[in-house]
Amino acid sequence: MRTELLIGGNWREGTGGGTIDVIDPASGESFAAVANGTPDDALAACDAAASAQPDWAATPPRERSEVLRACWKMLVDHTDELAELIVREQGKPLTDARGEIAYSAEFFRWNAEETVRIRGEIGLAPSGTNRMIVHHPPVGVVLMITPWNFPAAMITRKLAPALGAGNAVVIKPPSETPLTALRIGELLQDAGVPAGLVNVVPTSKSGDWFDAAVDHPAVRMLSFTGSTEVGRRLLRRAADRVLKTVMELGGNAPFVVFADADIDAAVEGAMVAKMRHSAETCTAANRFYVEADAVDEFSEKFTAAMAKIKIGPGFDDGVTCGPLINQRAVDDVDGLVRGAVDAGASVLLGGSPRDGAGFFYEPTVLRDVAHDAEISRSEIFGPVAPIISFTDHDEMIRQANDTEMGLTGYVYTRDLAKGLRTSERIQAGMIGLNRGAVSDPAAPFGGMKQSGLGREGSTEGIYEFCETQYIATNW
Ligand code: SIN
Repeated sequence: MRTELLIGGNWREGTGGGTIDVIDPASGESFAAVANGTPDDALAACDAAASAQPDWAATPPRERSEVLRACWKMLVDHTDELAELIVREQGKPLTDARGEIAYSAEFFRWNAEETVRIRGEIGLAPSGTNRMIVHHPPVGVVLMITPWNFPAAMITRKLAPALGAGNAVVIKPPSETPLTALRIGELLQDAGVPAGLVNVVPTSKSGDWFDAAVDHPAVRMLSFTGSTEVGRRLLRRAADRVLKTVMELGGNAPFVVFADADIDAAVEGAMVAKMRHSAETCTAANRFYVEADAVDEFSEKFTAAMAKIKIGPGFDDGVTCGPLINQRAVDDVDGLVRGAVDAGASVLLGGSPRDGAGFFYEPTVLRDVAHDAEISRSEIFGPVAPIISFTDHDEMIRQANDTEMGLTGYVYTRDLAKGLRTSERIQAGMIGLNRGAVSDPAAPFGGMKQSGLGREGSTEGIYEFCETQYIATNW
């Protein structure tokens, strides 16, 4: 298990000499300690990235693509080991952790294919006086700040296109899950990524780290996944240097079930949309709007499905929901549930933290949740499903859109035209129409409104890590 900082291809202790404890959320106990990066370490990582980047940018796209393909294979070959690390530091069930490694690796395979397809254009100016050449060089050095809910995939979703486009990166993984990030850094070097291109510097002092790194003259871009609140702060600071940004921020997804839907399919989709990766995803269904004629049937079947969830440590057989990341997360989820109940919701299932070691919350279903309850406006990030009945389609859409977030939405109906019309009216970057999962490396992942800026994945994702240069010329 790697516990030092990865800077310029070398492993070193932090210049401040301190460490960060890594906690197993299933027990609440510390099981490892990693080097705690300082602002000086962040700057050293930026220096290393700046030195390595020009040669990499000059490497033929086919060669870069082949390195990315080797990274895909390397991660796939280390699925068991990486998945176990994720379970230890993040807590999710082992099957979800394995799924995360497959998802993480796929970003490398997809972007290996995109790397050789970065396009340019050539055309005649409208005046006919000259040619216009447009091409896409890499941005340069990219800062990446990643979250703990997907310790591997939220790194590779940024890293693979950044490398494919010819950039070098400095990663600040979350202090909760640094081990997966450090091991990925090591594996990528073994796969042939040149030293200095991928630097991994965990820290417990994120603000100081970022303040130093953002002012490094070589840094030209910030790619962040995390909460909208933190995203706003980073954007303000990135504005000081007019950095290019890609921001994947919070969600508050409505999950709409019309009375004409296949209710069994809707329940199955709801379980995926709510409970995938222990309900700690920004795409998670946050508010279930169910048409009044179907609300009894949906509530009963969905509650029965939620009651079958087995919570426990991610390594235990049959566990389908692990712990939350820490005690604060448990307290936050519980506060939202208490607030909803105070505002008139009834509890169909669960409704409280689980006693004993670790940070567990009971799978919970609430009914008749008020639109103005805090839970309807907050990203829950826990296994709690609020159900809201509706009769008026337009009012339901108004409520669904009455949030500053716009990442994901879900719609269930047998009427495809109604489903498409409703999807278009929901202000969200991604819609699951009769599907409970939207994430795919080949699709543009990202939000509208305060859920973010830019897109990750698909053909768009790699261009986020490129500049556009236009050359006016004659011949
Ligand atoms: C996230 O929760 O930040 C990402 C979820 C996903 O990629 O599916």
